[in-house]
Amino acid sequence: MKFPRDFRWGVATASYQIEGAAQEDGRGESIWDRFSRTPGKVLHGHTGDVACDHYHRYKEDVALMAELGVDSYRFSIAWPRIYPAGKGELNPKGLDFYKRLVDELLQRGIEPMATLYHWDLPQVLEDKGGWLNRDTAYYFRDYAVTMFEELGDTVKLWITLNEPWCSAYLGYGNGVHAPGKSDLNWYLQAAHILLLAHGLALQAYRELNLPGEIGITLNLSPQYPASPSREDGEACRRADGFLNRWFLDPLFAGFYPQDMPEFLTAVAPHIQPGDFDLISAPQDFLGINYYSRGIIKAAGKDGYEALPPAGPVTHMGWEVYPEGLYDLLLRVHRDYGPIPLYITENGAAYPDQLMEGRVADPERTAYLREHFAQAARALEAGVPLKGYYVWSFLDNFEWAFGYERRFGIVYVDFQTQARIIKDSGRWYQSFLLV
Ligand code: FCB
Repeated sequence: MKFPRDFRWGVATASYQIEGAAQEDGRGESIWDRFSRTPGKVLHGHTGDVACDHYHRYKEDVALMAELGVDSYRFSIAWPRIYPAGKGELNPKGLDFYKRLVDELLQRGIEPMATLYHWDLPQVLEDKGGWLNRDTAYYFRDYAVTMFEELGDTVKLWITLNEPWCSAYLGYGNGVHAPGKSDLNWYLQAAHILLLAHGLALQAYRELNLPGEIGITLNLSPQYPASPSREDGEACRRADGFLNRWFLDPLFAGFYPQDMPEFLTAVAPHIQPGDFDLISAPQDFLGINYYSRGIIKAAGKDGYEALPPAGPVTHMGWEVYPEGLYDLLLRVHRDYGPIPLYITENGAAYPDQLMEGRVADPERTAYLREHFAQAARALEAGVPLKGYYVWSFLDNFEWAFGYERRFGIVYVDFQTQARIIKDSGRWYQSFLLV
């Protein structure tokens, strides 16, 4: 496998999934604090109250990253730590945590990549409508400006939003994630306001003339027709429109997919003049999170349905399909390029067990190796891929699955908070040495 010398290899996490210290140093309540306490929403009633206790153990965690030998670390900032009420009064202690984290990373020669929003909206803003309220986009911009001003000299890689499809669809469309609302119109409305929030933060970043780069991260999943029939082909296009194009098109072309008339009608009342100019303003890079693919046949009320996985699956039930990463990278480059790309997440959950001080996870190593190989193929085919962040650095709070899905290349014993580098982590470490 060949990768350019300046290629960035990293690991990724998100604030609510690892930090813990949920009530400490003035942090405000987030929608995930509230949601995880709502009976029936998270497996076993797990919460992020303690998680990996990273808030207290960040030094040791950064040392572990240095031991792995990564070039870069993608983390997210908890908005309610900075603005406990979403806006207004700043919480200096919350800000200080991220400053200390960034200093620690830089001292170890690890490049920080900061995501401004990885799903932990301040609950106070949710009480005012959350991502269904246009004001939230403007509060997000104000919070982003604070972070740019405070960390813009040291953090050179910024991501506005992580996976707005998930925030909008899982949060407001089917209710599987916080805040647990479910209505298809709300999904579309939330998606638009999230995209607007991205656009506003991007504009603010440009105005500050900072020395770094900024982009958004999307969860993209290539969809393949179940058969060569025209019906399955059309069904597949719809699935692709729903998951991928609904975000890619406005960001890169400045309008929503025109072949989805019911969606267009539903979102129309929420669009204001100028929105698409903000949303489609040029970004410096696009972050892609890739886990799996879909195989689609024509069926049902939506006009399409996903078939069961055609190959081996991870503990999430997601098919392991490394070629999908290659297809996706080429497609994004062809249809939306030229823009530098990062894989901001890729990885796999397996039911790992600690045995005699060791975690043998050969499936995860194979998963990573095969996906790295597809990234190398895409590079060779001319895709401007700049870096790759493994999800995840640590086992952590996997949203509605609580601690029951382990994605880490480092094992976490949640009883003792001990960290043990898994075999896959050792493999990554040796891969990074050459
Ligand atoms: C992505 C999320 C990330 C993690 C992985 C498994 O959708 O961005 O936080 O949960 O899935």
